[in-house]
Amino acid sequence: MALQTEYITVTDPASQDAELRHAADILRRGGLVVFPTETVYGLGGDATDAEAAKRIYAAKGRPSDNPLIIHLAYPEEAEAYAHTSPLYYRLAKAFMPGPLTVILPKKDTVPLSTTGGLDTVAVRCPAHPVAHRLIELLGRPIAAPSANLSGKPSPTNARHVAEDMDGRVDAILDGGESEIGLESTIVKLDGDTATLLRPGGITYDALCMVLDHVSVADAVTHRLAENERPLSPGMKYRHYAPTAPLVLLSGERERVLDFLRREQKETDCAILCYDEDVPFLDQRNLFCIGAREDLAAQAHSLFRTLRQADRANAACIYAPLPPTEGLGLALYNRMIRAAAHTVKHID
Ligand code: TXA
Ligand code: MG
Repeated sequence: MALQTEYITVTDPASQDAELRHAADILRRGGLVVFPTETVYGLGGDATDAEAAKRIYAAKGRPSDNPLIIHLAYPEEAEAYAHTSPLYYRLAKAFMPGPLTVILPKKDTVPLSTTGGLDTVAVRCPAHPVAHRLIELLGRPIAAPSANLSGKPSPTNARHVAEDMDGRVDAILDGGESEIGLESTIVKLDGDTATLLRPGGITYDALCMVLDHVSVADAVTHRLAENERPLSPGMKYRHYAPTAPLVLLSGERERVLDFLRREQKETDCAILCYDEDVPFLDQRNLFCIGAREDLAAQAHSLFRTLRQADRANAACIYAPLPPTEGLGLALYNRMIRAAAHTVKHID
């Protein structure tokens, strides 16, 4: 079923409405269009078309009980698709458009194939101007998971998208590097309770400034037991893991560097490290993730460096265990899953 994928570069959405209208027409006819967002690239289809969701699952190789986020141009448009609440509008006022997804009870206007059979729907208003204008031109929400093949890291540029999606979608819109680099924060609202299901660019502390109480789902930081039912279907799937085992290192900096230098001599390992550590390590298969204190830079480069480290065909990949404060929690959540919870403490 190979498709001829059309590549469209959109550097200035304001002056490229013709290109975006063309992309919206593809979606209107039931086709699939990959588009940039500020978090990661999305694999989009018409959220109101039950068949489009099936095509998205097929292109991604994703099980069809994993629900899709519907992307809106404006937060108020959620009224047509979900049962909103005062808490929803508090979050919308503070964080939309932006990297926040809110789960609400769904209305019948959203097909069950889009929500993986659930009676709730995830809504998000992306801030990226290309995403925003595309939704506006379609006049309907766009359902989109991250535009990677199931099991690969989320793509943060059009080159990564092409690696996974060439021949599987009708068009790919290239809007440059994703600014944040990690998927959106997901909050589930249930009456007046709020639960953080996936940490992202909007931090737990930022949510707590707007909502009185936010609980954190166990699966954000811990491995689910065999028989545990996750709050979000996505939590139960094996997330991206490199081919080589990934080991997260904790411990005092000098000790960790000693350990890494020894490993570099004795084994064929790849290393993700902070910028400050580069001068102290062998440059072979070394990938910088940003300065130690610069969590935003680390979020921005994480998926790219994981793709690079994976291509090095090393026997093992080492990376620092991220902190759990601030944006660190989102990094920790992605890394701990990519490492299948393997953490080595160096004494
Ligand atoms: O930043 C993002 O959120 C990107 C961009 C493209 O918007 N999208 C994204 O989608 O990361 P995806 O499908 O890769 O991850 C969405 C997660 C999945 O783990 C899914 O299980 C969960 O959201 N989800 C979606 N709808 C849900 C619902 N109704 N209830 C619980 N979890 C839901
Ligand atoms: Mg994804």
